[in-house]
Amino acid sequence: MRKKFDVIVIGSGISGLSAAIHLQESGLTVAVITKEKEISETNTNYAQGGIIAWKKGDSSEKLKKDIFTAGCNYNNIEAVNLFAEKGPELVFDFFIDKIGIDFSTTTEGKLDYTEEAAHSNRRILHFADHTGDKIESSLIEYSQKIGIEFYCDHTAIDLITNEHHSEDIQELYNDREVMGVYVLNNETGDVNTLFSDKVILASGGIGNLYQHTTNPSLASGDGMSMAYRAGAEIINAEFIQFHPTSFFHKDIKRFLISESLRGEGAKLINLEGENFMECYAPELKDLAPRDVVARAIYAEMGRTGSEYMLLDIASHYQGEIPLKNRFSKIYETCLSGGIDITKQPIPIVPAAHYFCGGVKADLAGRTSINNLYAIGEVSCTGLHGANRLASTSLLEGLLWAKLSADDITKHHSSIRDSRFDTIPDWKKPDQVDDFDPLLLVQDWKAIQMTMWNYAGIIRTKKGLERAKSDLEYYSHRIFKFYEKARLDREMISLRNAVVNASIIVRSALQNSNSIGCHFVK
Ligand code: SIN
Repeated sequence: MRKKFDVIVIGSGISGLSAAIHLQESGLTVAVITKEKEISETNTNYAQGGIIAWKKGDSSEKLKKDIFTAGCNYNNIEAVNLFAEKGPELVFDFFIDKIGIDFSTTTEGKLDYTEEAAHSNRRILHFADHTGDKIESSLIEYSQKIGIEFYCDHTAIDLITNEHHSEDIQELYNDREVMGVYVLNNETGDVNTLFSDKVILASGGIGNLYQHTTNPSLASGDGMSMAYRAGAEIINAEFIQFHPTSFFHKDIKRFLISESLRGEGAKLINLEGENFMECYAPELKDLAPRDVVARAIYAEMGRTGSEYMLLDIASHYQGEIPLKNRFSKIYETCLSGGIDITKQPIPIVPAAHYFCGGVKADLAGRTSINNLYAIGEVSCTGLHGANRLASTSLLEGLLWAKLSADDITKHHSSIRDSRFDTIPDWKKPDQVDDFDPLLLVQDWKAIQMTMWNYAGIIRTKKGLERAKSDLEYYSHRIFKFYEKARLDREMISLRNAVVNASIIVRSALQNSNSIGCHFVK
């Protein structure tokens, strides 16, 4: 199938859906692509803590200061200014007034602002600990109401560019520009050629490259890898944020224990019951920035020889909403794993959580390639610097969705049809091999172990060098495999994963400055 849209959005989380809504309502034709069967299966859906929002008595200056402190002043000043000045109000204008999202309220019916680490104010709106799925389901409902076209169960393979794909030699002498995407229909195996005047990458992060992560398995960083192959600039890829507290359980994996528990009083303790954060961050203790807390837990695990630490909310919670309702998702999940959070401390370990680097994007989400935008976790505007402040990511997705959609609408111009005609359909290899899925599983495990051990919470130059050489070997093997394999979603994600892992490790080796969540011993 060959089809043309004004804009193609890759990814259906907060940034992709919000951008699609703005664009569709401005009269442009939009397609949203997701490799998942369900539109809702995104990182956004798993967000618990909340979203920074405007609050009387708070100020953009205070918010900026917190972002710079968490980000070790490695941030892009312009991105931080824009975010702090324009972001918080958008939660009211877009989410509350337009989409109709109800955030949690106090018993007096006022909005219930919560706190997370390194914030100087309680300025985070939430929907119990279901903030992500509430936002996601509300955006899906609205998108469907206004008739946005979805391609679910479709995997983006590669961006189409004039220089890489056109059969017209003259395109080689033009500036590089993106003209659409080759997309695999996971069900039929057909590859569609979808054209557009603009493509927005809103495809999320890379958590699945790590052995322990709070992200769902879809998070292989497909957008970054596609942008890299198309020649886009990638920056700050060494900055992987590890969340201090994911559930430590033999059967329940990838489950986040929100930082808002610590915002509501929970304390980290070792297996002897000691509050160890006092030793590692005497001033901010349990509410120190994430990179500091994650390293403290890691160090305390090493010091005491324990596989996990504990988070005690049962003894410290003072909120007016009963604990099991305020944190209903965490309560229920932990209970299903035999831990009653109203009575017992929760076993936790740090896990890869958020990618602070990504495809370099400006204040309107434009990348270094014409017609290509990147927003949300796949992008790097420099907002987060060397370490992200909690609860900024949902708001970043929301704000850059609007900024990119406004930019596209304002400057909209169509690519001539005759230029699309010079783009061939996807060429399948003459001979395809069926592959043993076990090999794929093994390659994934190898990447995840390498990244966890050598490009994780604490890094050394030697470890990173070993990771580089291991990844070179895996890349060679996976690329050879890919050339002849029957194309499928898992194969595409694996190829993207190994490309991204190599980018991260090379960036980490290039930055000898140990800072924020790039901690080099
Ligand atoms: C959390 O709830 O702890 C995660 C929030 C975030 O990553 O910003």
